[in-house]
Formats: sequence, structure tokens, C-alpha cells
Amino acid sequence: MDFRLTEEQEFIKQAARDFAQKEIKPGAGERDEKAEFPADIVKSMGELGFMGIAIPEEYGGAGTSNLSYVLALEEISKADAGVGVIMSVNNSLCCDPIYHFGNDDLKKRYLTRLASGEQLGAYALTEPGAGSDAGSLTTTAVKDGDEYVLNGTKAFITNGDSCDLLVTYAKTDPDAPSGKGITSFVIEKGTPGFIVGKHEDKLGIRCSDCVSIIFEDCRVPAANIIGEEGKGFKVALATLDVGRIGIGAQALGIAQASLEESLSYSSERVQFGKPIAAFQAIQWKIADMAMEIAGSRLLLQHAAWMRDEGMRHTLESSMGKLFASETAMRAALQAVQIHGGYGYIREYPVERHMRDAKITEIYEGTSEIQRLVIARNLMAE
Ligand code: CAA
Repeated sequence: MDFRLTEEQEFIKQAARDFAQKEIKPGAGERDEKAEFPADIVKSMGELGFMGIAIPEEYGGAGTSNLSYVLALEEISKADAGVGVIMSVNNSLCCDPIYHFGNDDLKKRYLTRLASGEQLGAYALTEPGAGSDAGSLTTTAVKDGDEYVLNGTKAFITNGDSCDLLVTYAKTDPDAPSGKGITSFVIEKGTPGFIVGKHEDKLGIRCSDCVSIIFEDCRVPAANIIGEEGKGFKVALATLDVGRIGIGAQALGIAQASLEESLSYSSERVQFGKPIAAFQAIQWKIADMAMEIAGSRLLLQHAAWMRDEGMRHTLESSMGKLFASETAMRAALQAVQIHGGYGYIREYPVERHMRDAKITEIYEGTSEIQRLVIARNLMAE
């Protein structure tokens, strides 16, 4: 076992860190306040190869690995977790299902543009009545010649307004039980009947857009089916296996940012005649943060390595996502506590980290769903 990063992995991590610290971090507070989508940053990330990191070069990607994806996403999210989720959704939830389940035609028509960053993708699974119970979705897709006609509403769609296309899921067999008879489609934004609905005003990750999408007699070519008709729920769940590695890496970035801010503030802030870092009350908080971050990083890098090795990693992804997101929440709360009154005002970034951290315990499967997935996988062994 060798825990050292390869030269290529070190290079990608450093490139992501340099870009994030120089181009992303300085505007993070303002983007958060204005809920402003970072179009220029996303364009540059495409040019740097960050929008399709693990996708082979022949399909427009950077042709590296999922481990490199985790390394880069932690750095991007450390600077701005809102930018992190935009990158994560494009890589994991849009490029990945097309790459793994799509045919060559779909890869040529869509993946190449997504992975190179020329276009942006979204993932529309959740519905107003189907969140944790994703299999109970009710959007329908009815075959009509060589097209399908979609009707239904999708909720909380990250990148939903800024995207050029999305991967979605609809019931092609309305009589099938929950989780069955679902088909996965690629739909281009701008297709008649693809309607962008309400923009959500979020607590955190405010620079990424989050909208509802309404399909109203939206016609999609049958050629846009990802995988097989009726097998879409498995595409959705297998996609979340890598999605959860991405959200875990986003959480890791938030946790690391919280730790770094705490180290820097506590060494400068003087109370009772000494920097507060000299007090055990602060040291113990910092030690716990660092330990949990290191544990999260190992879990996530291990899950990514398993994916790179072609191993099933549902269990490891859920463990990594769960541990990293709960670590991020605890670390951000402690960072605010260490900053005292200054932690509670917008001038310092830790209150943003606290708001950003919360969503990592909710989306791509709540912490409760991760525990369910972990327990089910253990009991099935
Ligand atoms: N890979 C491949 N197949 C899988 C799988 C996986 N990881 N997990 C399960 N399957 C298969 C099962 O074997 C089963 O196959 P059969 O039909 O042949 O038996 C089928 O898929 C259905 O699986 P389950 O019976 O386990 O399904 P379920 O209805 O009990 O639900 C669940 C499982 C884990 C609760 C799932 O619904 C879930 O993960 N819910 C959370 C939803 C979620 O994470 N949503 C994220 C939305 S996207 C988002 O959040 C993005 C964003 O904003 C940034």
C-alpha cells in the first residue's frame, strides 16, 4: 500500500489549488451575497480540464482519474463550495451516466461538449413528491413514433437554469411498481416544453442556481435514452455512487477551509494576554477538526480509488459522503465558535462555510439515506 500521490495527482491538486486561490476565493463572498452564477469561472474550469476530469480525452475529458477528481474538487470547494457543486454535478451526475451507460452516438453528441466544458449539464431526478424515495417519481414519458413525450415536474435542480442539457428520469411504464419502469433521457434545454420554473433562494452554495424544471409535452428523441428503456433507476443509483464521492469532496473542502480559517484566526486573536490558540479549549477543537478531516479524506480517496479500479463502491461512497458531510458541519460550527462574535458576521468567511456545509448532509442522499445504504450493503454481504 502506498499513500503517496503520483506526480500527475500532485500536479492536478496544485493546479486546482492555484486556480481556486487566485481566481475563485477572492469573489466567493460577493457571489454568495448576490447569488451570482460564476459563468467565467466555469468556462475557465472547462479550459483547465476540471469539468470532465475522469472522462477519457477522446470524449473531451481530461482523461485522468476519480482520485484526481477528489483532489481537485476539494481545492475548488475550499475556495467556494458553490463553484464546487457546479463542477461536481457536471462531472459526476451528467458526464458520468452518459459515459458509463450511453451509446457511442450519445457520447459523441453530448459527452464531448460537456466534458470539455463547452456545455454545462444538470441532473433532474428529484420531484416535489419524490426526494429520498426517488423511485416513486411520477414524471411520465410516453412513446410516440421515434420520440417520447415527457410530462412532470422536477425539483431542486442544481445548474438547472445555467445548463445546456440535463439527464433526467421518467416513468415509461406507468403501471410498474416504484423504482421500476423508469427510463433515463438526455434533454437539451431549449427543447419546446422544457420550462425553467421557480428559482430557489438558498441558505448556502448561493452562487449555484437551483430551480424547478417542468416538462410540458416535451418531445425527446428515442435516441436520447441512456442505457435501456425501463432500466433508468439503476442508472440513477449507480450515478449517485460517484455523485456522493463528489459531494463528499465538496464537504471536505468546506471542512478544510474551516480548519485553515480557525488556525489563522486563533493564532492572531489575543485574549487574556495570549493568542487564543494557546488555550486548550481551542486546541482540542482544532485537533478534532483535523482528525475528522484526515479520516474523511482517506474514506473518499479510497472510494475514488475503488471506482478507478472498476470495483463496486456503493458502500464506500456512502461512508465517505456521510462522514465528510458531518465532518464539514461540525468543523464549520466549531470555526464559527472559535471566531466568536466575528464568526457570526459576513466579514469573515466561516459563517458562509457553516451555511454551505448544511446542504452536504442533505443532497445526493441525506445522512439518513446514507446510513440506510450502508446498513443495507452490510446486511446483504
Ligand atoms: N448501483 C446500481 N444498482 C443499484 C444501486 C447502485 N448503487 N443501488 C441499488 N441498485 C439497484 C438494486 O439492486 C435494485 O435492483 P432490482 O430492481 O433488480 O432489485 C434497484 O436498483 C432498486 O434499488 P432499491 O430496491 O435499493 O431501491 P429503493 O427504492 O429501496 O431506494 C434508496 C434506494 C437508496 C433509498 C434510493 O432511492 C436513494 O438513494 N434515495 C436518495 C435519493 C437521492 O440521493 N437523490 C439525489 C438527488 S440528486 C441531487 O441531490 C443533486 C444535487 O442537488 C447536487
